[in-house]
Amino acid sequence: MKLQHNTILITGGTGGFGFEFASKLIALGNRVIITGRNTEKLQEVKQKLPKVVAIQSDVSKSADIRSLYDQVAQEFPGLNIIINNAGEMRKISLHHKHELTDITREIEINLMGPIRMVQQFLPLLRKQENAAILNVTSGIALMTFPVSPVYSASKSGLRSYTQALRVQLKHTNIKVIELVAPGSATSLNDKFLGEDGFNAGMLMAPGKIVDAAIKGMKNDKTEIYPGVARIIRIMSRIAPKFMIAQAGKTGASTMYSN
Ligand SMILES: NC(=O)c1ccc[n+]([C@@H]2O[C@H](COP(=O)([O-])OP(=O)(O)OC[C@H]3O[C@@H](n4cnc5c(N)ncnc54)[C@H](OP(=O)(O)O)[C@@H]3O)[C@@H](O)[C@H]2O)c1
Repeated sequence: MKLQHNTILITGGTGGFGFEFASKLIALGNRVIITGRNTEKLQEVKQKLPKVVAIQSDVSKSADIRSLYDQVAQEFPGLNIIINNAGEMRKISLHHKHELTDITREIEINLMGPIRMVQQFLPLLRKQENAAILNVTSGIALMTFPVSPVYSASKSGLRSYTQALRVQLKHTNIKVIELVAPGSATSLNDKFLGEDGFNAGMLMAPGKIVDAAIKGMKNDKTEIYPGVARIIRIMSRIAPKFMIAQAGKTGASTMYSN
């Protein structure tokens, strides 16, 4: 698809991949709207990227998605691309006590968020000549990361939903794209630095991942596997138990017991 003269909404545009998407897509000549929960971070991005439209919105809250839709549909009726990027990842020891309302947080943000965004914005996307939905999953959607069990569930769930969505939208004007991102040096991963079994040297720069995503979108790829995501894809098919055992080394000494 052409990546110029589009109106693009990116959830979670204040850091990591979302910020890289915003700056690169603006540079290509697109109108870009970003969201996030933290107003100060939104203001900081606005200073760095004066052309960006920054709207506070929490993707885990249905009411926020409804009001985001009302504002965007009113002010940007030509919106034709949504990038479901906002995400959170925690280390969770299942041996510890967790509030039932809190334990599912990644599901609410990373999985329910995109599902609700798609449902809310679909009628607007259907009105456009060319439209796309890009969902950011993860190599972890292919291979669980035991130290982050709820995150792992959220990303494999999002991959499954994305595949179903692509089939259901096959005869529409809307392309459905999955970015299977490998580990990257963003604040999402700060909590793992220094953790035994975690190889920070494997983290890919977020800008490079977003470059690969933009190239994939331009070339009409439906699934994009930057860097080691390609290897994870092959290895998780050939040797799934080995891959889970490898991933399970992160946090093993501190997280897997009382
Ligand atoms: N980094 C990696 O290794 C990696 C690998 C594969 C996939 N991914 C995925 O890539 C996406 C972006 O991750 P990242 O590494 O760029 O993370 P990041 O640097 O921590 O940025 C996350 C962004 O999401 C926003 N966000 C978080 N919760 C939100 C919510 N409830 N509503 C709206 N915005 C929210 C954050 O802003 P606020 O905090 O202000 O809301 C921030 O803008 C995520 O879906 C992540 O799972 C990351």
